[in-house]
Amino acid sequence: MSGLRTAMPDASGARHPMVAAVAAGGQGLAGAAELSETDFVALARFIHEATGIHLPPGKRLLMQTRLAKRLRACGLPNFAAYRDLIESGRDGEEIGRMISALTTNVTRFRREPHHFDDLARNVLPGLAAAAREGRRVRLWSAGCATGEEPYTLAFEVLRLCPEAARLDLRILATDLDPEAIARAEAGIYPEATLEPLDAALRRQFFRPAPGAPGRWQVIEAARALIRFRVLNLIGDWPFSGGFDVIMCRNVVIYFDAATQDRLWQRFATLQRRAGDRLYIGHSESLSAAARAFYRADGTGYTRRSGAGAKLPDQTGEN
Ligand SMILES: C[S@@+](CC[C@H](N)C(=O)[O-])C[C@H]1O[C@@H](n2cnc3c(N)ncnc32)[C@H](O)[C@@H]1O
Repeated sequence: MSGLRTAMPDASGARHPMVAAVAAGGQGLAGAAELSETDFVALARFIHEATGIHLPPGKRLLMQTRLAKRLRACGLPNFAAYRDLIESGRDGEEIGRMISALTTNVTRFRREPHHFDDLARNVLPGLAAAAREGRRVRLWSAGCATGEEPYTLAFEVLRLCPEAARLDLRILATDLDPEAIARAEAGIYPEATLEPLDAALRRQFFRPAPGAPGRWQVIEAARALIRFRVLNLIGDWPFSGGFDVIMCRNVVIYFDAATQDRLWQRFATLQRRAGDRLYIGHSESLSAAARAFYRADGTGYTRRSGAGAKLPDQTGEN
């Protein structure tokens, strides 16, 4: 995950009745609340255990700013009460909203374009040929945020293999944040976000979004290639089938080293074919242990021989 995100719409809907009550009483609310060191440490520990995200002491003010909105939405007078709500586990949805408020979904179409160029030139032609011969082909955008990354993958796939939907070739796109996944699934974007795409791509893959002037929707043929799912990368994975390509970019930079290392090695168990490809963000790097499974190769990493990683059965939903 790359940093804590900028403003995100409050998805909580109704405000807690206490908000109105306290406000009517004229008491200062969360705007003035301060996040104590103790509450910060406790919440940071909770988030680390739930998501792998490591928030060092320097992030206290940032956490205070981001969670002030959650305090207001819950109608709580201070962070001690908010921490109690979270730690008690009595409001699972609020835990999700807190995590949403603290993660960043910053992304864009064709971000780090050299990865997509490499795929189109060196990887997808072979995968398209394999799919045409009847092989199952899977790509995974892990930490896909609002969808620009998996849609860029879909555009590259369809340019090379327009008949992909009729083959066993699919893209799995997952993120921790259900709000981001809902937006990704809708596939509707403001015109300005299409800027990294050339005119031919825009014409081929977007249509004006119905009832939303100035916004564009990804065409059905590209959306149909992608299965969007909420998934915590440090939790259980409901699949164990192989992936020819995994893209996990700008997701782990706030994970601690041990969590990153475990994730890379789990990826290796799902990439069992020599030649499978892994792309990570430019500021991320594979651990020494993971390099036993992957070798650096141009802009990405290539799976060495499948030996070494413990390989699960080829079952699961992907
Ligand atoms: C900065 S975005 C990167 C999006 C895209 N991969 C890119 O490079 O443009 C990071 C995403 O990682 C997600 N994320 C953070 N921790 C996660 C976890 N434990 N499991 C799954 N997704 C996570 C966040 O919700 C966020 O949407």
